[in-house]
Amino acid sequence: MDTAPPPESAPPALCRLDEIPDGGATAVDAVLADGAESLILLRHGEQVHAYLNICPHAGRRLDYAPGKFLLKNGTLICAVHGATFNQADGLCIAGPCRGEHLRAVEVRVRHGAVRLPDDA
Ligand code: FES
Repeated sequence: MDTAPPPESAPPALCRLDEIPDGGATAVDAVLADGAESLILLRHGEQVHAYLNICPHAGRRLDYAPGKFLLKNGTLICAVHGATFNQADGLCIAGPCRGEHLRAVEVRVRHGAVRLPDDA
């Protein structure tokens, strides 16, 4: 396990891992190459999947309130029109954009925090 403090050059944390309930999700703001975006962070133990908080159906946020998502049986359900996405790969398996994907964003868990990669 990596216990050394993050180097001075490490990108700022998006959030602490323990701010995301295990099996749950939250939304954070991040500055990506394309500009500022809201990200969905989905936690499974020590692993975090991240996606842009933009539904491929109509381009709306997926949360029903800021950082609050509908999660059921390994899926994430868009609060706007009910598109249902696999949490593990972002594939829409039911609803109006079936077959499309959420856009994945690479994140890493280091020192108890969720971060963008160093080279982001
Ligand atoms: S905007 Fe998400 S299902 Fe329509």
